[in-house]
This record gives sequence, C-alpha cells and structure tokens, in this order.
Amino acid sequence: MAAAIETEGLSKDFAVGFWRPRPYRALDRLTLNVAAGEVFGFLGPNGAGKSTALKLLMQLLYPTSGTARILGRPVGDVAVRQRIGFLAENPYYYDYLTAEELLAYFARLFGYRGADVTTRVSRVLDEVGIGKERRLRLRRFSKGMIQRVGLAQALLNDPEVVFLDEPMSGLDPLGRRHVRDLILGLRARGCTVFFSSHILSDAETLCSRVGVLVQGRLVASGPLSEILAFELKGWELVVAGVGAALSPELAQLARSVTPLSDGHVMLHLAPDAEPDRLLGELTRRGAHIVSLNPVRETLEDYFVQVVASTAARDARGVGA
Ligand SMILES: Nc1ncnc2c1ncn2[C@@H]1O[C@H](COP(=O)(O)OP(=O)(O)O)[C@@H](O)[C@H]1O
Ligand SMILES: [Mg+2]
Repeated sequence: MAAAIETEGLSKDFAVGFWRPRPYRALDRLTLNVAAGEVFGFLGPNGAGKSTALKLLMQLLYPTSGTARILGRPVGDVAVRQRIGFLAENPYYYDYLTAEELLAYFARLFGYRGADVTTRVSRVLDEVGIGKERRLRLRRFSKGMIQRVGLAQALLNDPEVVFLDEPMSGLDPLGRRHVRDLILGLRARGCTVFFSSHILSDAETLCSRVGVLVQGRLVASGPLSEILAFELKGWELVVAGVGAALSPELAQLARSVTPLSDGHVMLHLAPDAEPDRLLGELTRRGAHIVSLNPVRETLEDYFVQVVASTAARDARGVGA
C-alpha cells in the first residue's frame, strides 16, 4: 500500500527564554509512515509535540530539520493541499458569521463556485449533524458545535487525507461518539485519517495503528494491542448472590474483596489468578457472575513509565 503520510527525521526547535533564547526541541527526529486508508492515532500526553508535528505537516511551521511528504509529494505541494483536510486544535472562527456562511467562504477558497458551493456546504453540515442551527451565528454555538463546524470545514473538499488535532477534546460523550462514527465513515470511504489525542479510549475503537509520542520522541508505534497488551494488571470480577459461597479459602484467591451496593461483591484478582477456576467454584456454590473484566495498563500508566525511564536515561547521559 502506498504511503499517505511519511516523515523522515522531522524535528522542530523553538527558541525559548527572553534574555538568552536557547533552542527547545519540541519534536525530535520523527520518522513515521502512514499507509493510505489507515486510521492512525497519534497519541501522547499534553506537551508531547503532537500539535507541533501536525503544524509541520500543514506547513504552519517550518522544520528545523527533516522532511515530510503527503501523498508522495513534499508538504508544500499546492496540488496536494487540495486533497487534504485539517482540523486545528481548538479552532476559532469569526463568530458573526453563520455556519453556512463560514463554510461557503471556505468552499470558495477551495475554488468551488456557484451551486457547487451550496451543495457541498449543506452536505458537510448534514454529515457532521448540524441541522437548523446552520443559520445561526457561530457566537451562539457551544464548543462541541464549533468542533463540528471545524470538522465540516475539514471535509469540504472530499479530502483523501484528513488531519485532526484532538478532534474529541471538549466534547461530551455523545459528541465523542459522533466524531468517532464520522471517522469510521471516512475510513469506510477509504480516506486516510491522522488524528492526535491524549486519551486512549478515543484511539482504541478507531485505529489500525498508533504512534506514541512522549517529550518529542516517538517511543512506540504499531497496533495498540501490541503496545499495551503485555501489561495485564489483573482481573476485576463482580459477583451477585455470594453469601456463604465466598468462603475464606476462596476469598484468599483474590487480592481484595470489596462489597458493593445491592449485595454485589467485587474481587480483584492477580493477572495469573486463573479466573475461570474461581468462577467455576463460585457458580457451583450458587453465586452469579455479573462481570469479569481484565484490568489493563492504561495509556496514562504507559506515559508515566516512559517519561520516568527517559528521565533516568537522560540523567545517566546515555542515548539522546
Ligand atoms: N510557538 C512555540 N514556542 C515555544 N514553545 C512551543 C511553541 N509551540 C509549542 N511549544 C512547546 O513545544 C512542546 C510541544 O507542544 P505541542 O506540540 O503543542 O504539544 P501537544 O500538542 O502534544 O500537547 C511544549 O512543551 C510546548 O510548550
Ligand atoms: Mg496539542
């Protein structure tokens, strides 16, 4: 499969400090390859350099070193810019315009004219779920609605590659779900989606692959399951109707036993606890299983661990 996005040693230094500016490396030699048709999650804690990387890809910033290509062409290529869409982090628009007017303005910038403008604008607004509100001035829109307008703007030109910077930030659960479904729709059409997030659950259901950026460095990339799967931390088992079924010798198999409301009991088991054995024993004694869930390492745990090991390595003066 052809690469939709490629970066090679992409770095960005900012000058920081007023009296004696010194370079601060926000992105450190990012080498990345996203195949056409992929949904790629670009993950990392706040300040990791995700927006910097996206701005370099959008040519809103120029790299200190390294190169980036989109659809096989250098990022500055005018023809390529016609084939991509971009949603900035926290987009801000002139808010005396209505959603329709704003999008019509962007459609004309893309070179569409006449009836094509109207049909495109109403199609993308339908797509992002903005109904009658499209005739309202943006100043009356909530953060979630503005985010949708931003998404509509990113889709105006039927892009082949879409870049979204934290598309789900600031959205309520319904809004998140809507954005997720929209991305799935783009994927179904064969569109390549590159989106950044600091929240793992955003990526879990969407991405074929992720890259994890910590302090400007890509510390892992691949299917999310391969990056986090190795860290099964244990099991969380909830049972009902335990009563006497939970004898002291069975309770001993759990790390902890917590009574919940309405007679349910939660048991925390070690990763190697063989939950089926305990489950079998409990059901035999008349308890019902309410749920059994693996407790996995979270992305946040992973970030913390990587940051700590990076700091330790830097302190020893190794690597770089
Ligand atoms: N224009 C700038 N000038 C100086 N430092 C910047 C600038 N933009 C970003 N940074 C710094 O670069 C680092 C990465 O920022 P950013 O790319 O916004 O991270 P993320 O999007 O992952 O939260 C941060 O430490 C941030 O403070
Ligand atoms: Mg950011």
